[in-house]
Amino acid sequence: MPSSSRCGRPSACRSRPRSRKAVPTVSLDAFLAEIESLRADAVAALGVVADEASLEQARIEFLGAKSGRLKSIQKMLGGLSVAERPAAGKHFNDAKQAITAALEAAQGRLAGTAAEADAIDVTLPGDPLRLGHLHPITQTIRRVQEIMSRLGFESVDGPEVEDQWHNFEALAIGAEHPARDPLDNFYLAVARGADPLLLRSQTSTVQIRVMEQRKPPLRIVSLGRVYRPDTADATHYPMFHQVEGLLVEQGTTMAHLKSVLRLFASSFLGGDVHVRFRPSFFPFTEPSVEVDMEWGGRWIEMGGAGMVDPAVLAAVGYDPDQVSGFAFGLGVERIAARRYGVADIRDFYRNDVRFLEQF
Ligand code: DAH
Repeated sequence: MPSSSRCGRPSACRSRPRSRKAVPTVSLDAFLAEIESLRADAVAALGVVADEASLEQARIEFLGAKSGRLKSIQKMLGGLSVAERPAAGKHFNDAKQAITAALEAAQGRLAGTAAEADAIDVTLPGDPLRLGHLHPITQTIRRVQEIMSRLGFESVDGPEVEDQWHNFEALAIGAEHPARDPLDNFYLAVARGADPLLLRSQTSTVQIRVMEQRKPPLRIVSLGRVYRPDTADATHYPMFHQVEGLLVEQGTTMAHLKSVLRLFASSFLGGDVHVRFRPSFFPFTEPSVEVDMEWGGRWIEMGGAGMVDPAVLAAVGYDPDQVSGFAFGLGVERIAARRYGVADIRDFYRNDVRFLEQF
């Protein structure tokens, strides 16, 4: 073999001859004194470190691999006589163990402090939860639905963007009727074919939509938004809510209508409520009435009602000789204002929490 090296690369692998530095001679006593003072210093210092940075500093000072104090003492071992070395080595190892244990104890202590800092202090007062609640109009809608469902009326929805047929024509509101005036409606810039669409001006649209899809007998209520370009004041708003009621069965009369409205009103407002009908006109009911309710000595106009006009029944394919029905439409804001004693309906929409949180 030409090479003396196991790896075959003589120059790279061959270990360099050690340059042995001469270690100064030292006595066992001197060595022991050094090691004991190191142990005392280290245990004392590690016993009081209070944070990670000073712990690391102490570790380097005492146990640092290059120039830590333990390392320098280890080097002194070479200066002892061969006979003294075993005893010195034992002391050295004891001290090293003690210092390492002190370091671990310090690490444990700091970790504990950190965990304590993260821990929840169960004696502190908690952050109060701010519980919200439903808007008074939504509460009113839900309450009306609940009362009406006990009277057998199913709650249904209809679209807010409507066509001429459902908002007007099927309800016998002819082309010349002032209710179709562009100034009294929110007509949209979009149309379905030649049919301009609008934001529905009344929930009576849902009567038509339901009757087109179902056969009598039926009892429905529909609560939702309607839109009219009214100037906002204490009793008007360009968007408001209506309750629409419709009952179509054989032999329905105005007496049924009045009973249902009275039952509803006394359930909703509580106590003895009176319902009064005043003659009126709506194109889709015959006869038609205005509905007033008296509660706590005050009469309030709540909306309109009447017997469904035979022309409307015919428009949806019902036989007016077979069935009759009643319908009513009430203002949700009026009902809510009456119930909660609110004088200005604009307050419902100002989104002032100080107002809303009272209900
Ligand atoms: N839709 C009418 C309005 O907005 C209210 C109304 C009157 C509804 C009579 C009805 C009704 O169902 O029968 O003024």
